[in-house]
Parts: sequence; C-alpha cells; structure tokens
Amino acid sequence: MSLSVILAALSPLRPYLIQLSVDKYITNHLLQMLIYISVVQLGILLIENGLRFWFLYRINWLGQTVINDMRKSVFRKILFQNIGYYDRTPIGTLTTRTINDVEAVNDVFSEGIVSIIADILTIIAIMIIMFITDWRLTLVCLAPFPILILATYWFKESVNKSFQRVRNAVAALNAFVQEHIVGMYIVQAFAAEKTEMDKFKTINKEHRDANIKAIFAYSVFFPVVEIILAMSMGLLVWWGAHRMLDYSVTPGVVIAFVMYLNLLFRPLRMMADKFNVLQMGMIAGERVFTVLDSKEHLADNGTVNADNIRGEVKFENVHFSYKAGTPVLKGISFEIPAGKTMAVVGHTGAGKTSIISILNRLYEIEGGSIKIDGTNLKDYDIYSLRNHIGIVLQDVFLFSGTIAENITLRNADIPREKVEAVCKLLGIHNFIMSLPGGYDFNVMERGNTLSQGQRQLLSFARALLYNPSILILDEATSSVDSESEQLIQQAIDKMITGRTSIVIAHRLSTIRRADEIMVMDKGQIIERGNHQSLIAAQGEYYKLYTAVEKQKERV
Ligand code: CTP
Ligand code: MG
Repeated sequence: MSLSVILAALSPLRPYLIQLSVDKYITNHLLQMLIYISVVQLGILLIENGLRFWFLYRINWLGQTVINDMRKSVFRKILFQNIGYYDRTPIGTLTTRTINDVEAVNDVFSEGIVSIIADILTIIAIMIIMFITDWRLTLVCLAPFPILILATYWFKESVNKSFQRVRNAVAALNAFVQEHIVGMYIVQAFAAEKTEMDKFKTINKEHRDANIKAIFAYSVFFPVVEIILAMSMGLLVWWGAHRMLDYSVTPGVVIAFVMYLNLLFRPLRMMADKFNVLQMGMIAGERVFTVLDSKEHLADNGTVNADNIRGEVKFENVHFSYKAGTPVLKGISFEIPAGKTMAVVGHTGAGKTSIISILNRLYEIEGGSIKIDGTNLKDYDIYSLRNHIGIVLQDVFLFSGTIAENITLRNADIPREKVEAVCKLLGIHNFIMSLPGGYDFNVMERGNTLSQGQRQLLSFARALLYNPSILILDEATSSVDSESEQLIQQAIDKMITGRTSIVIAHRLSTIRRADEIMVMDKGQIIERGNHQSLIAAQGEYYKLYTAVEKQKERV
C-alpha cells in the first residue's frame, strides 16, 4: 500500500525535472547543471522502476498466497461435505469453484483493487502538479475528458456483460467436454457422434459470439481513447503555442504537459478493464464463499472408538429420504448378530443401496436408530467407525495411480506386505502379479485398463485391508467374464466368513449361503427368513428366485 503512494508521488517528478532543465538550464546554457540533473533523472528512473518491480512482485506474491490458502479451504470443504450435497451439485460447478473462481479472486489482487488504487493515486498526483504548474493550460488540455468518461462507462458495461456470457459459455463447454469424454463409450457405441458434435457446435458458437462481443468493445474503446488523447494534445499544442508567443508559458511546461498527458492516459486506458476484473473477482469470490459457508458438513461429535467392535448391527424403525417428502426407507427394523451374514434382495430401486449408505453414515437418517454393539451410530467417532466397516460398492471407482495406491487409497502407513497378504487371501495376488509392473501397474483414470471383474476384485482388497468387523457388499448386477467370476465367488466366500456381513446379492450362490435373507420392496421389508423357509412360503422371494433360476444361474 505504502509502495503505491510512493509510486504515485514519484511519477510526476520526471516530467517536472525535464521542465526545469528545459526552462532553466537549456535556455540559459548551463551545461554543468544539465548533466547534474540528468544524473538525478536517471536515479529517479531507476528507483521508480525498481519500486514498480517490487510492487508487482509483492502484489502477485500476496495474490498467490491467498489463492493457495483459499483453494485448500475450498477443497477441504468439498472433501468433508455430506454426500447428499453431491446429489444436487454438478461436478463441473465444483471444479469451476475450486479452480477458475479462485483464480478470478486472485486477479482482484494482481490486477484489481491494489493497482486501481495505485492508478487513482497516480492520476491525482499528476492532476495536482498540472494544476499547480498552470491551471488554465490544464483545463484546456482536459476539456475532452467528459467524452472519455462516457466512453469508459460504455466500455465497462458492455465488456462486463459479454464477460459474464463468456464465463457461462466456458462453464458449459467444460461440463460438456468433461461429460462426453467420460461417456465416450456410450456416444460411440450408439453412433451419437454427429448429434453430440452438433450440440457442441452450438455451445462453442455461443462462446465465440460472447468473446467477439467483448473484443468488439475493446477494439472500439482503445482507438477512441487514442483519439481523445490526440484531441488533448492538439489543444495543448494550440493553446501552448499561443501562450508561448506572449511568453506566459515556457517551452519546458509544454514539454512537461505532453508527458503528463501520456502518464495520465496510460492508467485511464486500463482502468475500465480493471474495474471489470474487480467485479468478476467479487462475483467469483461470492460463489467461492457460498461453498465455504455451506453447512452441509456432517455433524461429527461422536467419541466412541470403534476399534473393538464385534459387529452386531441393529436397525430400529429407520426412516430415511434423500429429498424431504420422498421417503426411501419406511420403517426398517432388523438385527444381525455379530459374525452372521444377511443377504438383501429386492427389485431395483427398492432401497437396498440406501441401507448401506446410512449404515456408513454417508447420509443421516430421519427417524429411528441404528446401533452397532448397542451403541448409537452417531456416538462413534466417524473415521474410526468407517475404518471398521469395509465396503464394496456397486460401481467400483478407481483413481489414476497404481494398483497398490488404489487398494490403500494412498495411505503410506500401510506396508506393501499387508496389501499382498490381503490379495493372497482373496486369491488375486497371482492375477495382480501377471500385470506389467505387478502392484505398481498404473490403472489410468477410472481404471479403464482393467475389466469390470478385475476392478471389482481390487475393490474387495480395498475393503478388507483394515480387517473390518462389518463388511458391506453391494454386488454388481452386470456380469463379468467367467474367469473373474470364479475368482470373485471365492473371494466373496473368504470375505464374509468371520465377520458381520450385509450382502446385497444378485448371485444365488451368495444368497443361499446367507444366514438370513431380507426381501425389500419400495422401502420396506416384506419377507425375512432363510432360503428354505422363504421358498416354502412361496412369496416374493420365491418369485424372484424362480425368475432368476429360469435365466440360469450366472457363472
Ligand atoms: N435415490 C435418490 N437419491 C440418491 C440415490 C437413490 O433419490 N442419491 C432414490 C432412487 O430413486 C430410488 C431409491 O432412492 O428410488 C432407492 O435407491 P437405492 O437404494 O439405490 O435402490 P437399490 O435397491 O439399491 O436399487 P438397485 O438394485 O438398482 O441398486
Ligand atoms: Mg443399489
């Protein structure tokens, strides 16, 4: 801040010294003084630009420090946000918040607020010295200023509008490209390239049009400023020459004024632009703060350590919905003794996956209670609890990185031997070793280089790594190749023995082995029992079972 004041005070100094040297020393042929003053000039030039360098460097340093912190806060917020938040917020939006919007906030620092203040101070300093030197000449020179103000206002408004359009278009482009690269398989498999390309063209055209609008404003504005500057110069020369003839103005003053005008116009030209940057930065900042201020953080005040849980699970009249007013689970009660296996079956959309999402506290329930070993779920320390609930989800998600990193989720505290031990137990060690690089095989983004069954097997290892007391398995409905299928079957057997397991099963072999089977429909439990008793009852389970039987057991 103080730097900008010094800079503003220094800027009119050089023209003033030139004025001095022209009027006093050149016209009077004082060579000695002229050399002296030139040295001073050079000194000021060096100091001024040294300061300018330091000023620029500090501002940007400050900006970068701020965005570094801000980006960390935003991402931390995102990491700890309730999963329900992501059901409602598009990924593209959050990416934009963390990357682009934070960047726009940085621009406020580097190009916005501080330099606007510096510019204004400079303009004021120059105007003051101009008025002191010759107020009449100043008024004449600055006569075209109102036009400049009008032009600036028009420019600011139109650029601002177009920039908002540009930003929206960029967001739309990002989202579109991102989504289509992820879903490329579908696009190509359904030969939808042409229609998608047409859609892309429309979005891209909007982007171009918005940009051209902005560029148009720039292209008009800068020549207009030049013309106004020329007008000022013309007036200066005209009036100055007149007055020089009757000796009421010295040549030095006229030369100094030429420099003042240039100094004055330089910041003015950029000012409108900077105001836009400022405005956009504020909008972006506001958006970033809505993310930072959102209160969707999971209430995490449990203290009970889950290290020694046996794994007895009890649901009592549990009610749950994703959106208020649309109940998904309507009064679920069941109990699984420690070490037993419960299979959950039911039509698609019945609420099976929802049961495990609330057991892991990814979502909060609305009514009733869930207890583990008699202690309410909310009383457990959430991280400790989640470490003791191993989970295999329907859709396996792998991150770009090695196999080992995907199993440990980059927890460097877990030794390689432990990873290998789990994989050996699951019978997938040999498969992993057959990949180039073994455990260091890079699976690339989302594990695209592996088959679905292989990905599933890796997610098994991930779930078993902490030797959880409770295991949740949401079996994938899609079929996998028969070699993996066998591996998966054996791995599931190994996983569920000796721990409380909830298996959302599609494989009859898994279901039959369960200690108890729970049949769900529309958010309620409609049947319970073991395989024999449910078959004998000839109810919903019997229908499901015979339907699958007809399709032939998948192996
Ligand atoms: N649902 C929702 N928001 C989510 C997930 C699910 O509103 N984030 C709704 C679904 O529309 C569905 C209901 O919750 O009507 C139950 O979903 P889910 O428990 O996932 O059903 P599953 O029984 O697991 O179905 P599937 O066999 O297809 O996996
Ligand atoms: Mg499901």
